Amino acid sequence: MRSHEFDAAQKEGVYRAIHLRRDVRRQFLPDPVPTDVLARVLHAAHHAPSVGFSQPWNFVVLQDRSIRQTVRASFQRAHEAAAQLFSPEKREQYLSFKLEGILEAPLNLCVTYDPSRFGPVVIGRTSNPMMGIFSSVCAVQTLWLAARAEGLGVGWVSILDEGDLKSAMNLPAGVTPVAYLCLGYVSHFPEAPELETAQWLPRMELQDLVAVDRWEQGCQEAWPSLHQEIHAEAKLLGSRR
Ligand SMILES: Cc1cc2nc3c(=O)[nH]c(=O)nc-3n(C[C@H](O)[C@H](O)[C@H](O)COP(=O)(O)O)c2cc1C
Repeated sequence: MRSHEFDAAQKEGVYRAIHLRRDVRRQFLPDPVPTDVLARVLHAAHHAPSVGFSQPWNFVVLQDRSIRQTVRASFQRAHEAAAQLFSPEKREQYLSFKLEGILEAPLNLCVTYDPSRFGPVVIGRTSNPMMGIFSSVCAVQTLWLAARAEGLGVGWVSILDEGDLKSAMNLPAGVTPVAYLCLGYVSHFPEAPELETAQWLPRMELQDLVAVDRWEQGCQEAWPSLHQEIHAEAKLLGSRR
C-alpha cells in the first residue's frame, strides 16, 4: 500500500458512494432528516474545492411547503414548455418520466452562486468567470456523495425558471440559484439511472471518451494498456451490479 492511500475498506466506501449514487425523484419517504445528518452533509458540501478558495456557495434549506408549492408550479410550467421541444414520439415518453420530487421529499435545498464573494478579483477566475459557477457545482456533487453515504437520496431539478426561484427564496440580486435539490430517505435507490433503464439514452463506453494528447487520438491506439484496463474495470463494475 502506498503512503496516503486509503485502505481497501475506505476505498470501497468512496467508490460505493460514487457508483451507488442516483438521482432520486419517486422513491422519497416522508421521514424527517435528522439535523445532525443534515449538518454533516452540508459540511461535506462546504468542503468542496472552489476557485481561489472563494467558497461562492450558500445553501437555502427549504422546509416551508408554500414556497415548495410555488417552486412546484414553476416546474409544471417549465416542464410543459420543455415537452413541446420534443418530437411527438419522444414527447410521450418525456411526459411519462417523473422529473422532480419537490413535494414528496421532506427537504428541498438550493445551492447558490455568489460572484461577489471576497470581492471582484478571485485567483483562478480571472480568465474564465465560469470557474465560479463550477465551484458551486463541486459543492453540489460533494453533497450528493455525502448524502448517498448517509442513505439519503438527492434529486436535482433543473426544469425551473430562474426568476421564479429567485423570488420564491428572496435571493439577493446577483446571487444565482445553481442547483435546486430534493433530499430525503428513500424506499430504495434505483440500480441504474432511470433514463438508462427507460432506454432514453445509454451509458456511453468510457474508452470511447478518453483521448491521449490530441482530441482525435483515441486511447485504444495511443495507450492500449489503458484502454484494456478501462475495459476490464467496466466489466467488473457491470458484474457487481
Ligand atoms: C445539472 C443537472 C441537472 C439535472 N436536472 C434534472 C431534472 O430537472 N430532473 C431530473 O429528474 N433529473 C435531473 N438530473 C438528473 C439526471 O437526469 C441524472 O443525473 C442522470 O440521468 C444520471 O442518473 P444518475 O444521477 O442516477 O446517475 C440532473 C442532473 C444534473 C447533473
